[in-house]
Amino acid sequence: QSGQAQIKVVLLGDSGVGKSSLVLRFVADNFKIDSDSTVGASYMGKSLQFNDKTIKFNIWDTAGQERYHSLAKMYYRDAQAAIITYDITKRESFEGLKRYYRELQEFGPKDIVINIAGNKEDLVETEAVPPEEAKEFASSIGAIYRKTSAKTNYGVEQMFRDIAAKVLPD
Ligand code: GTP
Ligand code: MG
Repeated sequence: QSGQAQIKVVLLGDSGVGKSSLVLRFVADNFKIDSDSTVGASYMGKSLQFNDKTIKFNIWDTAGQERYHSLAKMYYRDAQAAIITYDITKRESFEGLKRYYRELQEFGPKDIVINIAGNKEDLVETEAVPPEEAKEFASSIGAIYRKTSAKTNYGVEQMFRDIAAKVLPD
C-alpha cells in the first residue's frame, strides 16, 4: 500500500513528567534541561518510514497543569492514539496516569490505542513505581507499556512505531 497515512496522537499526563520533552526528542532529536511547562497545548508533526509506507504522526502535546485539564478533551476526542506518560521517579504521577486513563474511558474514542510511557528511564536508580506494577496495569487495560527517556532517547521512536503497528496493522 502506498500513499501517506496519518495518525493523530495525543500526549497526556501530569505536569513535569516529560511529555513535551518526548515530543521534542522524537520530532527534532533535541532535549532541554529547562523545558518550559506547556500552556494549553502544542502541535508537532513528524513522518516515519515503515517498509513501503510513510506514516505521518500529528502529535498534540497537552499541558499537564491542573488549570488546563479541561482542555485536554478537545485534543483526545478525535485521536487514534494516546500516550499517557508518568515519571518513573514520581509515584503520584503514576496515580495521575490512572486518572487520565479513566477519563479517556469515559470521554475518549471507544477504539483509541493507549500506550503508557514510563519516562525518565535515565533516572532508573531512583525509580518509585515497581516496573511490574506498571506492566500489570498496562496489560490490564490492553495498553503497551514502554520505558522511555527523552534525555537519552531510550525507547522514544519505538513507542511511536508501536502505535503505528497497532493503529494501522497491515
Ligand atoms: P507540562 O508541559 O507542564 O505538562 O510538563 P511536561 O510533561 O511537558 O514536562 P517537560 O517535557 O516540560 O519536562 C519537565 C522536566 O523534566 C524538564 O526539566 C525536562 O528537562 C525534564 N525531563 C523530561 N524528560 C526527561 C528524561 O527523560 N530524563 C530526565 N532526567 N529529565 C527529563
Ligand atoms: Mg509540556
